[in-house]
Amino acid sequence: MALSTGTALLLAVCFLACYASVPSLAASGEFLQCLSGNIPSQLVFTPSSPSFTSVLVSSIRNPKFFTPTTVRPLCIVTPTNATHVQAAVLCGRRHDVRVRVRSGGHDYEGLSYRSERPETFAVVDLANLRAVRVNRRAATAWVDSGATLGELYYTVAKAAPGLAFPAGVCPTIGVGGHFSGGGMGMMMRKYGFSVDNVLDATLVDATGRLLDKKAMGRDLFWAIRGGGGGSFGIVLSWKALFQSLYLGNCSDLVRTMSSQFPELGMTRADCREMSWLQSTVYINSGDANTTVETLLNRTTSLNTFTKNKSDYVKQAITEASWEKIFPWFNNAGAGIIILEPHGGRVGSIADAETPYPHRSGVLYNIQYVAFWTGNGTDSPNWIRGLYDFMEPLVSKTPRGAYVNYRDLDIGENTVIGGVTSYETGKVWGEQYFGGNFKRLAITKGKVDADDYFRNEQSVPPLVWRM
Ligand SMILES: Cc1cc2nc3c(=O)[nH]c(=O)nc-3n(C[C@H](O)[C@H](O)[C@H](O)COP(=O)(O)OP(=O)(O)OC[C@H]3O[C@@H](n4cnc5c(N)ncnc54)[C@H](O)[C@@H]3O)c2cc1C
Ligand SMILES: *[C@@H]1O[C@H](CO)[C@@H](O)[C@H](O)[C@H]1NC(C)=O
Ligand SMILES: *[C@@H]1O[C@H](CO)[C@@H](O)[C@H](O)[C@H]1NC(C)=O
Ligand SMILES: *[C@@H]1O[C@H](CO)[C@@H](O)[C@H](O)[C@H]1NC(C)=O
Ligand SMILES: *[C@@H]1O[C@H](CO)[C@@H](O)[C@H](O)[C@H]1NC(C)=O
Ligand SMILES: *[C@@H]1O[C@H](CO)[C@@H](O)[C@H](O)[C@H]1NC(C)=O
Ligand SMILES: *[C@@H]1O[C@H](CO)[C@@H](O)[C@H](O)[C@H]1NC(C)=O
Repeated sequence: MALSTGTALLLAVCFLACYASVPSLAASGEFLQCLSGNIPSQLVFTPSSPSFTSVLVSSIRNPKFFTPTTVRPLCIVTPTNATHVQAAVLCGRRHDVRVRVRSGGHDYEGLSYRSERPETFAVVDLANLRAVRVNRRAATAWVDSGATLGELYYTVAKAAPGLAFPAGVCPTIGVGGHFSGGGMGMMMRKYGFSVDNVLDATLVDATGRLLDKKAMGRDLFWAIRGGGGGSFGIVLSWKALFQSLYLGNCSDLVRTMSSQFPELGMTRADCREMSWLQSTVYINSGDANTTVETLLNRTTSLNTFTKNKSDYVKQAITEASWEKIFPWFNNAGAGIIILEPHGGRVGSIADAETPYPHRSGVLYNIQYVAFWTGNGTDSPNWIRGLYDFMEPLVSKTPRGAYVNYRDLDIGENTVIGGVTSYETGKVWGEQYFGGNFKRLAITKGKVDADDYFRNEQSVPPLVWRM
């Protein structure tokens, strides 16, 4: 394919073209033509294709980002192999059209398929790249980014009962975005985050090259394991390491609970034994009779509007403060608050080991969730009021937030001279990544100095210029 010789040409063209922020219509047409020369036409959907809307909506979680005014892509590419992904990036570079990559579409701000401001961009949707290949003997697997967590759990447990992988709770989440941001779940205190168990990965970089861990180099392999999706390239597959799972039986648990927490009065009837695979279904559905095959259902529903925000707690919140927190939910509106305990293996890993910095000294994180129905796309005010109220009680300088619980309220990028500004990026970046933000920005400067992979909260390139 002609594209493999395109790198030198590409850089020359880019030097001239990358500073135009909105490509001309001609460039869009040339981009589509470039795609059609390199990717089978049935894998490319433009707004005039009959199935454009159904492909676009297939993994949208939040109706807020599927309205008549939502800024939609110029086209959606649904690659079936790595060559197609490389072609999409190379065509995008040549004709100055950015791509946004989507795996499971669960981004809280929808940044994998919509833009906050008018912009011409294409979506590379990885839903077809979803193989899970388990090596029982080595207790490892390769999982493609477009697989859902449910598909990962199901395939692993069916291939090798006794093996498990630590990741999030909702089975329709995509592996690609989830691992890019860390990945916390029910087994994190025992086994850490998803990224603490990733051994290798393959990625298409901003020049269209296909790289593995060795070719990526230390900084880039570090950055993609928690530095947030959409900044460094398109991760196609991840080698995930499993732990043999034994969390214990009911008799052991009841004995432990009665000696450590006798006030809870736990008995055998409060406990249910099940396989790890069944537990992933039970935790999500709350119904022990749901079959494990529901993990393979990728369909999401579009009826509830939500707005979420996050915090980290390092000093226990007192009972008196909790009494002031609960009325926010009774009086103001529908919502929940979710606490996820840290410590254990999560806390024993150094803050700089992966981009996820909220480890030592963190007791738990908080997720605030507001729900509403109807056509309103604006979040109710109370959730921001609660967030302000919480400020003195949670982590400070900077106040922490989790990149997988993306929140554009904490800051958005500005583009200065054609690239995202590091100084404005620091405002949100240090909340997500603390002291690791600078290393992420320097890594971005090394692998994508032109800032091709860009969105409202992508890591800005930090390049030292003399
Ligand atoms: C119902 C629900 C439950 C959740 N539960 C949990 C939980 O238990 N634990 C937890 O940690 N998180 C949880 N999350 C958050 C979730 O981990 C993040 O939203 C995650 O980023 C989603 O990944 P995705 O592939 O589905 O999203 P997408 O929207 O496809 O992607 C998210 C971001 O990553 C980028 N990206 C996607 N694929 C790639 C790729 N292959 N290479 C590079 N960048 C990529 C996108 O461009 C976008 O910026 C939950 C979210 C929802 C909606
Ligand atoms: C990807 O598919 C195309 C056909 O669309 C084929 O020409 C190409 O060789 C495939 N690449 C790989 C790596 O399988
Ligand atoms: C907020 O979190 C809830 C609970 O995890 C989830 O159902 C919802 O989809 C999230 N909101 C967004 C915008 O994704
Ligand atoms: C529970 O597990 C322990 C090992 O941790 C074992 O000694 C005990 O026999 C088990 N009890 C039951 C009822 O299976
Ligand atoms: C689950 O199934 C069992 C029998 O198979 C039944 O007794 C029980 O009521 C069911 N539980 C629920 C919540 O449906
Ligand atoms: C898959 O999930 C959707 C949304 O929750 C639901 O409407 C549908 O019935 C499910 N399909 C199957 C086969 O269970
Ligand atoms: C949203 O608005 C449309 C048209 O304005 C209306 O038909 C529809 O019923 C509304 N939906 C809800 C859930 O309010």
